[in-house]
Amino acid sequence: MGKRQIAAVVLAAGKGTRMRSGVPKVLHPLAGQPMIAHLLHTLTGLGVTRAIVVVGAGEDQVSSSVEATPGIEIECVVQEPQLGTAHAVQSARAALADFDGDVLVLCGDAPLVREKTLKSLLAACNRSSGPSVVVLGFRPQDTAEYGRLLVTEDGGLSAIREHKDATDDERKIGLCNSGIVAVDGACLFTLLDQIGNDNLKNEYYLTDIVEAARSEGLRCEVVEGEPEEMLGVNSRAQLAEAEAVIQNRLRQAAMDGGVTMTDPETVYLSVDTVFGTDVSVEPGVFIGPGVAIGSNVVLRAYSHLEGATVEDGAIVGPFARLRPDAQVGVNARIGNFVEVKKSVIEPGAKVNHLTYIGDARVGAGANVGAGTIICNYDGFLKYHTDIGAGAFIGSNTALVAPVKVGDGAIVGAGSVITGDVEADELAVTRAPQKGLKGWAARFRERKAREKSEKRG
Ligand code: UD1
Ligand code: MG
Repeated sequence: MGKRQIAAVVLAAGKGTRMRSGVPKVLHPLAGQPMIAHLLHTLTGLGVTRAIVVVGAGEDQVSSSVEATPGIEIECVVQEPQLGTAHAVQSARAALADFDGDVLVLCGDAPLVREKTLKSLLAACNRSSGPSVVVLGFRPQDTAEYGRLLVTEDGGLSAIREHKDATDDERKIGLCNSGIVAVDGACLFTLLDQIGNDNLKNEYYLTDIVEAARSEGLRCEVVEGEPEEMLGVNSRAQLAEAEAVIQNRLRQAAMDGGVTMTDPETVYLSVDTVFGTDVSVEPGVFIGPGVAIGSNVVLRAYSHLEGATVEDGAIVGPFARLRPDAQVGVNARIGNFVEVKKSVIEPGAKVNHLTYIGDARVGAGANVGAGTIICNYDGFLKYHTDIGAGAFIGSNTALVAPVKVGDGAIVGAGSVITGDVEADELAVTRAPQKGLKGWAARFRERKAREKSEKRG
């Protein structure tokens, strides 16, 4: 049997009112990426080459966010008004007119379903003389308002009953509808045409496709997945629950890949975080989107990284902040309360304490002293600072950009550097030190006298 094509229809037209948000629900982020992007990414892993995303009118934000997803051809179609899940799938009809294969229907607000679960759903649908409709079921602890799956003695599926329309006995059934279904594309739309809206919500229910198929003599089946995968996000609290699930998966994958985490539950990662091997991540580290970490790196406690690269052997933190386009070279050291933005820290350079490095290069092996600030911004524009290899910047220096410190130069502590410093030059700008012998003792004596006269 040849491999059948798979198209996906992602339902995302619901209003998402319970999010109380100006942002469409499916664009709320999980681990640094819109929730719908997680789902689309899972689909690319399955070999789905085409997805139709059903959105509500005016949801241009969703269309522009998803249309350029790599590895999958995406078309957004508008469903307006929204008359139910079957009606939503009908909106994909024109887009799928020339499609021949299996159609996978998913919900944009249920992004946690795993690739292997969808694989088993599609495998069931794809068996020769297999079923025409396969529903992904699950057994939640709380069956809540889920549709219930009515199974026959031979393991087939005879109907899905929506909670509102179910009898008391049917409500006792623990096997619930996830909302995810695979249907043979050859019969999908003829079956949808048979679905009416004669139910308590007067909606066209996709779930009625089971009874429609059975009345045509077609077989329907259930494949079960884990409850965790079916979590739907309807509120901010459920968004946080989904985040927790994704974070756990990301931590597990990182540890499986050779990362040590002292206290994994306190570490936050992004879907695109890349780790080399033998990385050690201490408690409280937050990694936002666009971060790549090399091998043998230590990310010390409570550091915050986004859009940054950390090369092999570097040590970052504790309490360091790497902002976008920070590039920390091999064996470099970024210490506590140091912020680095859009800068290259070359191999072996040390920026150990209380420093801001922005729009700069810190040459190989250079040492930037405590409290050094690069003044990269004049309120209008930003300027570059170049620190040469092996240079030494004394503590509490302000480098006013644009400025260049040559290789091997030394800047005296407390200097405000506004002009270029040549290689191997010493630059000091602070006022020369004065010493007045005995002054402090005389001062204290005078002040004590003034104080006692005032009291008396
Ligand atoms: C649906 C299922 C229910 C299942 C539950 C799982 C139906 C009739 N019921 O119920 O059996 O247990 O999901 O979460 O399918 N949508 C549209 N257009 C519409 C209506 C809905 O795009 O006209 C989208 C929503 O944005 C959402 C998805 O379809 O992503 C599911 O719709 P929702 O209204 O949440 O269905 P439920 O009542 O939860
Ligand atoms: Mg729902």
